[in-house]
Amino acid sequence: MLSNRKLFLEYLAQTSPSPSMLEVEKAKGVFIYSPSGKKYFDLISGVNVSSVGHSHPKVIEAIKLQADNYLHTMVYGELIQSPQIKFAELLISYLPDNLESVYFVNSGAEAIEGAMKLAKRYTGRTEIISFKNAYHGSTQGALSIFGGDYLKQAYRPLLPGIRHLDFNDFDQLQRIGPETAAVVAEVLQAEAGMIQQQAGFLEALRKRCDEMSCLLILDEVQTGFGRIGSMFGFESYNIVPDILVLAKSLGGGMPLGAFISSREIMEVLSYSPELGHITTFGGHPVCCASGMAAMEVILDEDLVHCALEKETAFREKLKNPAIQEIRGRGLMLALDFKNKEFMLRVVKCGFEEGFITDWFLFCDTAIRISPPLNISYDEIEEATLLLDYCINKVKSQ
Ligand SMILES: Cc1ncc(COP(=O)(O)O)c(C=O)c1O
Repeated sequence: MLSNRKLFLEYLAQTSPSPSMLEVEKAKGVFIYSPSGKKYFDLISGVNVSSVGHSHPKVIEAIKLQADNYLHTMVYGELIQSPQIKFAELLISYLPDNLESVYFVNSGAEAIEGAMKLAKRYTGRTEIISFKNAYHGSTQGALSIFGGDYLKQAYRPLLPGIRHLDFNDFDQLQRIGPETAAVVAEVLQAEAGMIQQQAGFLEALRKRCDEMSCLLILDEVQTGFGRIGSMFGFESYNIVPDILVLAKSLGGGMPLGAFISSREIMEVLSYSPELGHITTFGGHPVCCASGMAAMEVILDEDLVHCALEKETAFREKLKNPAIQEIRGRGLMLALDFKNKEFMLRVVKCGFEEGFITDWFLFCDTAIRISPPLNISYDEIEEATLLLDYCINKVKSQ
């Protein structure tokens, strides 16, 4: 009989040049367990997904309850399904007035596609601007606004009318013009290696979009739900988007995305032609129930405000001189060794010693630290000791 390892390589399409090959038996809280019972600190939350930890009892309960009631019944937007309505109502109650209409989809990339279509349709313009070193998903529209060349070069032609600006370059904001339908931005550039704005940049971007009457789409797929010390990242920067894009932790561990806008903007998807976006599984009732339960956990356990305090705990404990820089905000951090080989060996050592981390699409000298928001201070202590042990081990090799 073939081992799961062999079956994984033989039957599952492989795209990663170096899969970690860790087999998952179960996951609970901040830990992932292998079949041998060995436990691993999940220091990346499956890339910012498991914000309330793995298998949170309230999330599991909500999933079971909804699964007992009904699974898929009909394509999006036809039948009234209470998990969708209740979750949309909860989301809207925590959002500014103009973010009042939710379109649930399946993933971050689909939410980006929906947001780009919506902006083109609403403004009647076609140009979309995004930023260098930004990742917004892997479908063809999302790939078109990818802020690099490497991943998209083999798939051209992609969408026309796309321009990329340098994040934090105030002068380049002038390139946003009367032909621009929308600018897509992150409030903190995750895959660039947790790059924050220079003071005032996001406000200047908002102002320029207003001057040119184009829409600002904020991709909060990674920054949403308390990661950087506010429920939604934009609240930390004093701006409000025209379209908000959410995914990853939105579903509490189940696949869910959303683009959210004003009723006036969203309405254009309903006429000339109608069915402006179609999705079979978007807003799946089990995913909405799970997402809502996870958001309630974030609220009940006050996980939004502790992200900044836990950032401080990580920073205080990570003083190894091999770490050249710690970037980011809240529980979205990058530890930069400024050396790719060194970084790879720390990641490898983590899998041997019991913690999981990875690196970034646009920064291969730093590791990602974005654990579940409810990681305890004792767990931070234990995880950082392990991390320090690995850094010293790599140094001594
Ligand atoms: C900022 C950002 N936007 C969009 C996406 C795409 O999300 P998904 O993988 O769910 O399509 C990602 C995925 O990593 C992301 O990091």
